[in-house]
Amino acid sequence: MKAQGKLKVFTKERGAEIGDLFGIFFEDINHAADGGLYAELVRNRSFEFDPIDHPDYHPLTAWDKVERGHGCATITVEASKPIYPRNKHYVVIDILAEGDGVGISNRGFNSGIAVRPGETYFFSCYARRDSSFEEKVRVALESVDGQVHGLTEITVDSSEWKKYEAIIQAEAADLSGRLTIVTKGRGKLYLDMVSLFPSHTFRNRLNGLRRDIAEIIADLKPKFMRFPGGCLVHDGSLHPDDRNSMYRWKNTIGPVEQRPARRNNWRYHQTLGLGYYEYFQFCEDIGTKPIPILPAGYDPHHQRIAPIEELQPWIDDALDLIEFANGDPATPWGAIRAELGHPEPFGLEYIGIGNEEQGEPFFERYEYFHRAIKGKHPEIKLINSSGPFSAGETYERGWKSARDNGSDYVDEHYYMSPEWFLAHHRRYDKFPSSGPKVFLGEYASIGNTYYNALAEAAYMTGLEKNAHAVGLACYAPLLCNADYVNWKPNLIWFNHHEVFGSANYYVQKLFMNHLGDRLLKIEAEGFKQPAEATVPSIGGAITLEADANAVRYRDIRLVNNETGETMDYGDRVVDLTDTAEARAAGTAHAAFGLGVTEWKDYTLYAKAQKMSGPKGLKIAFGKKDDRNHLSWEVGWYQNQDSVLVSAVNGRGSVLTQSQFTVEDGVEYELALHVAGRRVRAHVDGRLLHDVVDELPVIEPIYYSATIEESTGDVIVKVVNLQEEEVATHVSLADCKEAPLTIEVHSLSGHALDEENSFEFPARISPASRTIHSEKREFVYRFPKYSVTIMRIR
Ligand code: AHR
Repeated sequence: MKAQGKLKVFTKERGAEIGDLFGIFFEDINHAADGGLYAELVRNRSFEFDPIDHPDYHPLTAWDKVERGHGCATITVEASKPIYPRNKHYVVIDILAEGDGVGISNRGFNSGIAVRPGETYFFSCYARRDSSFEEKVRVALESVDGQVHGLTEITVDSSEWKKYEAIIQAEAADLSGRLTIVTKGRGKLYLDMVSLFPSHTFRNRLNGLRRDIAEIIADLKPKFMRFPGGCLVHDGSLHPDDRNSMYRWKNTIGPVEQRPARRNNWRYHQTLGLGYYEYFQFCEDIGTKPIPILPAGYDPHHQRIAPIEELQPWIDDALDLIEFANGDPATPWGAIRAELGHPEPFGLEYIGIGNEEQGEPFFERYEYFHRAIKGKHPEIKLINSSGPFSAGETYERGWKSARDNGSDYVDEHYYMSPEWFLAHHRRYDKFPSSGPKVFLGEYASIGNTYYNALAEAAYMTGLEKNAHAVGLACYAPLLCNADYVNWKPNLIWFNHHEVFGSANYYVQKLFMNHLGDRLLKIEAEGFKQPAEATVPSIGGAITLEADANAVRYRDIRLVNNETGETMDYGDRVVDLTDTAEARAAGTAHAAFGLGVTEWKDYTLYAKAQKMSGPKGLKIAFGKKDDRNHLSWEVGWYQNQDSVLVSAVNGRGSVLTQSQFTVEDGVEYELALHVAGRRVRAHVDGRLLHDVVDELPVIEPIYYSATIEESTGDVIVKVVNLQEEEVATHVSLADCKEAPLTIEVHSLSGHALDEENSFEFPARISPASRTIHSEKREFVYRFPKYSVTIMRIR
């Protein structure tokens, strides 16, 4: 068989250490914790749901009144005599007529509680009853129409709050089960913290995790877990006792009934039942290093800023967390950990301050955290932040702060098109090996198709090859309950009874399961290089746009910089309105076309004024159709940034950003200069952006090699993104004795648009086989569109 090229692995030439390169990022988004990994089956167990979480929520969300026979009751929620002051609300069942029983029923998450025959469930609640009305309370798992799948009873015998526990054995299967609590007699029954867990949680822990979800995560063998968010960490108010507080870890430990409820910024309710102790425990259980992310007393979304003189409690949170995780049980926080059941330290090595923060208030505050943490715990590796953009002003500011302070890592986040990932797989080639390292704390190509997975695999070979500069990387988000989607794509999808990994999951799994400890030198030679295609310049339609606002453009000119030719729109004043009211009235006029240009070097000049509305100005250019274009958005998202976005097949990548807020009524002079694929954008003469919109050029193969020290296995990773197989001569230079045993794990044979689903959960998943070679060199045909891991020994 004739090989198209040679892949030479130098088994004696070791490069950078791989360290903890690939891990996971857990955030309670898409109901990842409540209604997800956290195995609690009762939704709104403590009657704390509130419109602050979501406008549709109220204290009885997910609960229904039950009145059987001629029973009659009123159901209310009160707060005057709570079990704990931070868990204020409880339900009151006032029995007006007992009939065949009255009470409440919980709908669980998704379509209901997934009841499994033979499964044992742990029920618990806090209850009290009016004075002397001691009475049995019937607790059952039932179908929607009241068929009993499992039953138990408790006797509420006190007018003071007491915890009651019971076991329910289920005898039938039902995916729409209800937990029904019914009583008879007279007076009032008070309930709170009504809870139901399957006994078979992950590692059978109490207050534990859903086994199937925990297992699919554990199967990844991640080196680290970043948690508990994301925007969830910093989106909130400054006071830890606020219902709307930022994520404060001290609120999340200890008895669950004493933990306060919290607004989750993803517009739902967070019980905090899955808290810091459980996170650390989970990390330990799956052999992964915890990477907690703490808020820095700054909410960039709402500009809530802790004054510097009030920063100490936030810094103390960080120092105390280190003691909680690592301190001797003789220390105050080490003692709390020991009391919770874990006298041994959790071995915390990393802490992140801030999540994709932008704005000076963060960088000003970071320094205080850095000095305090490094001063007391020089052994802890500190992670700084570079904001939510892959390039531009905020990104550079984050890196400067990291270099100035001597941070160990800089957290980078980006969600881009697969084409962006392919065009940038060499992004880190020029990053230095000294100074802060990259923590790619959130990334995903937009989509869960096989093509996305391939693009990410190609990119990951680039991350791995640059382990000198990239220290940590994790895909985001990790989990999504398919009935509560906040964000797409996601690595793992589930509902209340099933779970599956996306195609992207299997790429992550292959890379994590076969990571290795040190890079090996690897070279490709002889492959036909991609033809030097002429790179098309950015041509296409240009439109002036409004985006949820009213905007005026005038003095519009499009100039060909090569010929001087000018399209002048004279005195034309373009008024655009895209408000909700205008849309509803059918009077919205959101875009004005300036025609199509194929000029290679042009500048668009315009004066623009936002009259009203939350966002700013928008110019689309290089527009082939509605899904393929570039856009310059001044006053994007929360009107804090100017960005250049490149959309490919409807998937937009923010190429670069500068901070900019568009003021109502102020007229700005815009100049957008396009030359080839380079774009420069000025406002009032100030250069905001200078970026090249790179197009992907598919390489013959993408590859990397590592060695696993404990086994001596040489691990070679190859991604073929071509529509044809690539026969490759693989040689192990300078050491390995033949014959070789080669374990091959690969993804191949799928259409680019295929995805896994509940129906076909592992359609795209790796196949494994073992091959042998008599010699230290062999020819391997890497299938078209494939990811291949070879473990050679
Ligand atoms: O991963 C989803 C969100 O994306 C995270 O919460 C945030 O950090 C980023 O904007």
